[in-house]
Amino acid sequence: MVKYGYFQDKFLSYFVAKESRRSPLIHRGYYIRSYAIDYFLKLFLRASNEISEKRQIISLGAGFDSAYFRLKSQGLLENCVFYEVDFLDVVKRKANSIRQTKELKELLIEDFDDKIHSPELSLVEIYSKDYVLIGVDLTQIKQLDQVLRLCHINYTCSTLILSECVLTYLPPSYSQAVIKWAVDCFSNAVFIDYEQINPDTAFGHFMQNHFKKTGSTLKCINTFPSLQSQTERFFRLGWEVYRCWDMNDIFFNLVSMTEKEDIERKELFDEFEGWHLVCSHYTIIWASIGSPNSYCHEVHQKIDTVYRSATIATKQTQINERAIQLLNSSETIMRFGHSCAVIPSGLLVIYGGFGMENSHHQRLSNISIVELKSWETVKISTSKFEKQTEVARMYHTSIVISPNTIFLFGGRTSPRKACQDAILINLEELTDSSSDLGSTTATHDEDEQILEPLKFDLRSSSYNMTFRKVKMYGEQPCARWRHTATAFQKNGHPQMIIYGGRTEQHIPLDDCYILDLNSWHWSKVDPCGSKPMGLHSHTSCLWKNRWLVLAGGLTKQLTPSKDIYLLDLYTFQLKALDVSGVLYPRYSHTAHVIGDNLFLVGGVNLEHFSPGIAVVNLQSGESQEFALTDQSETGEIIMLHGHQSEILNDEHLLIVGGGCNCFSFGTHLNKSMFLIDLKYFQINCNS
Ligand SMILES: C[S@@+](CC[C@H](N)C(=O)[O-])C[C@H]1O[C@@H](n2cnc3c(N)ncnc32)[C@H](O)[C@@H]1O
Repeated sequence: MVKYGYFQDKFLSYFVAKESRRSPLIHRGYYIRSYAIDYFLKLFLRASNEISEKRQIISLGAGFDSAYFRLKSQGLLENCVFYEVDFLDVVKRKANSIRQTKELKELLIEDFDDKIHSPELSLVEIYSKDYVLIGVDLTQIKQLDQVLRLCHINYTCSTLILSECVLTYLPPSYSQAVIKWAVDCFSNAVFIDYEQINPDTAFGHFMQNHFKKTGSTLKCINTFPSLQSQTERFFRLGWEVYRCWDMNDIFFNLVSMTEKEDIERKELFDEFEGWHLVCSHYTIIWASIGSPNSYCHEVHQKIDTVYRSATIATKQTQINERAIQLLNSSETIMRFGHSCAVIPSGLLVIYGGFGMENSHHQRLSNISIVELKSWETVKISTSKFEKQTEVARMYHTSIVISPNTIFLFGGRTSPRKACQDAILINLEELTDSSSDLGSTTATHDEDEQILEPLKFDLRSSSYNMTFRKVKMYGEQPCARWRHTATAFQKNGHPQMIIYGGRTEQHIPLDDCYILDLNSWHWSKVDPCGSKPMGLHSHTSCLWKNRWLVLAGGLTKQLTPSKDIYLLDLYTFQLKALDVSGVLYPRYSHTAHVIGDNLFLVGGVNLEHFSPGIAVVNLQSGESQEFALTDQSETGEIIMLHGHQSEILNDEHLLIVGGGCNCFSFGTHLNKSMFLIDLKYFQINCNS
C-alpha cells in the first residue's frame, strides 16, 4: 500500500514481510481504516496539546503497528508517552525487530528505571521515555493495570486508548472489562475502537466464516452487532460522549474530495460491491470522558451521516420462507458479473463473468447452458477463441435477437481494457439433415469473422454453437461495461438501446445509443427532460414496448441511486418517476417488468441490511420493499448482487449466480441457482 502511494510510512516495512501484490479492493479497505485512525490520533494530539501538559496513547493489541514511529518522526509526540500492549510473544518479536533496526532504535531513548524490582516488569520489553512495550494478555486487566502503574501511567492526564481490530477477538465479558477499566481509571480519556459489525447479512456471514477458518473467531460481533448496540455499550459502561460510524461514513464525510480523486487515480478500480460492503461491516467508535469531550463535537459534526437510516430496515415486508427454492442443476453455476439470455426453445445461455476455472478465481471463458425444464446443464469451453476475441469478459450485456441468436455487447477483460468487439452467438439444434454449420447461421457481412463452431449435447439433443464478430456502422458508442442493453421493436424494426456504463477512464456515462439490429447501424440519442447524471451498474427494462425504465445504479459520487426514470422511445422525453412508499437505493441489482410492476431484485447499498425485492407500480409510483433471506435453509450464503435473473412464465424469478470479491476474506460465489415464487410479492396499491 505504501508502494502504491496510499500513505507514507517508511517504518512499516521494518515490521511486515515484503509487501505482496494485493487487490485494489484490499488497498482501499486498508486506506480508509488507516485514514480514520490517523485522523483521530492526530486530532487527539493536536487538541490535547492545548489543554494538557502531558499526554498518553495506549494501543491495545498493537501487534506490529508502526504508529509510534511514524508520529514520532513527524514530531507529533511531544509530551506524549506511547504504550503498546500485546501478548508477550508478540511484543518480544516486535522488540527484537526494533532493537535490530537502526532507524527504529534511533527514535527511542531507553531509560529503564531498574530501581523498581518486580516480577511484573519482566512483562515490559521496552521502557523508554516516550515508548513502552508491554506483554500482557488483555483478558488479565488487573495485571495490565499493575504493569501500567509500575510504568508510571498517569490516570488524570489526557489519554487516548486505541483498540484497532482487537476487542472483538476477546470474549464479550473480557472486552467489556477493558472498556470499563478504562472509563473507571482515566478521568480525561478518549477510547477509539475499530471492529466488525453486521453479522447477519450475507457478507456478514461470509466475513464471520473467514475469521473462524483462520482461528480468529469474532467473539463480540453477535453481542454488539450494530452501530446502535456499539454506542449503547459505551454509554452503559459509563462513557460520557460516544458516537460510532461505519467506514462508508468515514469515506463519504471525512475524506476530502481532492483525496477521493487522488485515490481514483492511484489504481484502476472496479470492485465497488465488495468495497461498499466491507465499509458497512466495520465501525469506528469514538467515546470520551472529561476534557476530550470538549473537542469531540468537531469530529461528530464532520462525520455524522445523512444518507443512512437504521430504522428503514423495519420497513421491509417479510415474506414466506417457502417463496425461495434452491435448484439442483447438474452443474453448479458459480459466477458473478456474467450475462444471461433465454432463447425461446427454453435454453438459458450464461456467458462470461468471474468464477473458478482451472482451480483459479478468474474471468471465465466457459459458457453454461441450462435446459429450463430439466435443469440439465452443460459447460462449454470457449478458450480456443481467446486469441481471436475477448471471450473471458465480464459486466457485458446479452440480448436475444432472434429465436436462436444472442447478441453480446460491451464488457471488459481487466479494468484497463474494455472489450471492443460485439458477438453474435447462434445456437442450432442438429437434426440429421442439418449437421453442416454454415447452413444454420444468419447472413453476414464479408468482413465479419466467423469462429469455429462448438458442438454440445443436452438432454439427448445435439447442438451447434457458432460465434460471429459483428461489424457495426454509424455513430458508434465508446467501449464500456456495467451499462444496460434492452431490445425493443419500433415500427416493426428490431432495435437495441444501450444506456450509461463506465469506461477505462473511471467515468460513469450518461449517454444513450440505439442500434438497428437489421443494418447494425448505431445512432446517438439525446434524450430531453430530467436526465440522470452518469450512471453504471443500473438496470433498464422495457415497459409497454414504449418506455425504457432505468432504475438505481452507482452515481459519479459513488453513491447508490434509488431514482427511476422513464424514457419514451418515440419522443425521447426522459422523466423521473415520482415514487411513494419504501424504495431503497441499490446498484448491481437486476430488474424486470411484469404488467405495470417493476421488480428490482437485490443489489448493494450503504444500508446495514441487504436489499431484497422492491416492487414499484409504474402507473402510480407506489413502491414496497420485501426482505429476502441472506442464507438458505441449508446454510448457503446468498449474495444478491452481481447475479442475473430471468422471469419464467410471469410466475417465477430465476436467480443465476451472484457474489463478489469480499476484501481480504476471499471471493464468494452463490452455490445454487434458485427460484423465487412471485405470488408472495403482491404490492398493496392504493390506486
Ligand atoms: C488484527 S491484529 C491488530 C493489530 C493492530 N492493532 C493493527 O491494527 O494493526 C490483533 C492484535 O491483537 C492482539 N490480541 C488479540 N487478543 C489479545 C489479547 N487477549 N491480549 C493481548 N493482545 C491480543 C493480537 O496478538 C494481534 O496483535
